[in-house]
Amino acid sequence: MTNHPGFTLWFTGLSGAGKTTVARALYTRLKDLGMRVERLDGDVVRESLTKDLGFSKEDREQNIERVTFVAKLLSRNNVAVLASFISPYAKTRDYVRNETTNFIEVHVSAPLAVCEERDVKGMYAKARAGEIKNFTGISDPYEEPTNPDILLPTHEQTLEESVEMLVQELSKRGLLPEPISN
Ligand code: ADX
Repeated sequence: MTNHPGFTLWFTGLSGAGKTTVARALYTRLKDLGMRVERLDGDVVRESLTKDLGFSKEDREQNIERVTFVAKLLSRNNVAVLASFISPYAKTRDYVRNETTNFIEVHVSAPLAVCEERDVKGMYAKARAGEIKNFTGISDPYEEPTNPDILLPTHEQTLEESVEMLVQELSKRGLLPEPISN
């Protein structure tokens, strides 16, 4: 089994900023290195573990609390956890930092104008039309990380560049597999 520590790489940012896209690409990269990796993703988790929750402040906090429990168990058992959630509240993100092993906050920082212009899921249009209430960035807050471990400007760089930045950071922190020496 490959020798590497667990960690919790936490992607926060607006809907459509690229959290899932980057996490997926990094997942493949780390798997290719022979690592134990799990992805936790808002859109997926909200159809299972937290399908009873909505988007009020309390529900968003509850969503992240449950996910944190999972990330905690995995990361302390040497699994690389890639978690992508809007996680709009700074206090909640600090809670994750305290609970999990080798927490790294990644701010996927594509600004609202870019996310809205892309509108991959058509949700910004609906939010503007008032068809979706409490939509992050439109009618609900997003507290930008003031001091993220990594700033990932996905609107200004390619997917490959984003993945490379993350791999470099993981390497710097000693979180990639040890090269086998004889
Ligand atoms: S979080 O705020 O609790 O961290 P999470 O990342 O799990 O959010 O889920 C966000 C996803 O839910 C968005 O990408 C979008 O597809 C969907 N969604 C549905 N309603 C909302 C809303 N009101 N605000 C933000 N995202 C929403």
